[in-house]
Amino acid sequence: MAQILVTGGLGFIGSHTVVELIAAGHEPIIVDNLSNSTISVLDGIAAISGKRPAFEQVDLKEKSQVQDLFKKYSSIKGIIHFAAFKAVGESVGKPLEYYENNLGSLVYILQEMRDHHLDNLIFSSSCTVYGEADELPITESSPVKVAISPYGNTKQVGEELIQAASEAHDFNVISLRYFNPIGAHPSAQIGESPLGVPLNLVPFVTQTAAGVREQLSVFGDDYETRDGTNERDYIHVVDVAKAHVVALGRLLNRKNEDAYEVYNLGTGKGSTVLEVIQSFERVSASKLNYKIVERRRGDVTAAYADTTKANEVLGWFAEKSLDDAIADAWRWEKKIRNID
Ligand code: WQD
Repeated sequence: MAQILVTGGLGFIGSHTVVELIAAGHEPIIVDNLSNSTISVLDGIAAISGKRPAFEQVDLKEKSQVQDLFKKYSSIKGIIHFAAFKAVGESVGKPLEYYENNLGSLVYILQEMRDHHLDNLIFSSSCTVYGEADELPITESSPVKVAISPYGNTKQVGEELIQAASEAHDFNVISLRYFNPIGAHPSAQIGESPLGVPLNLVPFVTQTAAGVREQLSVFGDDYETRDGTNERDYIHVVDVAKAHVVALGRLLNRKNEDAYEVYNLGTGKGSTVLEVIQSFERVSASKLNYKIVERRRGDVTAAYADTTKANEVLGWFAEKSLDDAIADAWRWEKKIRNID
């Protein structure tokens, strides 16, 4: 097995991926600047895995820190790059911080890959690159649309940057375009811990139920969907994490057919906001306090994945249901709020 650098490894998807990497026998090295995560996540990973991975607090925007990191870990066989700012709304007000952080750090990592003759990279991308898709379900060849936010643009430009570097320097790269990762590890040792008021639906649902938030606002019920609320492809974070291990194995074993490959990570099933609320009420046997308000700017009506390529080429399938993810998210929320 291999020593793997995991940037953003204390984040939501990063931490769950570290757990699956250890389970698969790899040795993840966690790199994180703790700007949107806490060191206590390491305890959760150790509680699940029985191993405490090496942790390096590094700001990947600082070139010298990135150079020192790659000098120290000269035997890594691959990199999984999660580290990025990821709040769509926040990025509209802070575009320069998003471009500097998300793209600056990526350039420095690619330069170190070039200089150390490393070639295996898994890139954390997003269905955001598709914008409001013309056709559903969304395939990997669906057109990439003009980004609706600087965040989404950093993912688009990130993919373009990586493709150019891959061609010039013989990298082998897989970009994974996540739909809507939700949930938490079933052990409730790690989960989603957004700092401040959650921007995403599911943590807002569980925080409302936990009494941390007064009421959930549903952003519009006048969309062209079966119940008027937006439709998304909610995928369990553990399924997303396992896909990273499969993709890494594809590169380590040189099974990739192209130097640059892209896969959608979704369940292939869309759920509306009201259906997510119904799922929560079902699994928690409680009523959620919510109200319908006006639409949120930048929301697309519907987005869900065509998972054929990941299923048939990668050999990966999402296994958990919406109810599984919501139940795990609720268990995690109750754990961190000390609710029975
Ligand atoms: C989902 C739905 C809202 C909050 C996210 C990430 C994006 C990308 C894809 C990673 C929408 C509605 C939400 C609330 C609501 N992932 N909603 N009330 O916008 O699909 O994008 O997943 O790259 O980065 O941001 O997810 O959870 O914000 O919204 O009604 O309080 O829930 O309108 O329809 P989104 P989301």
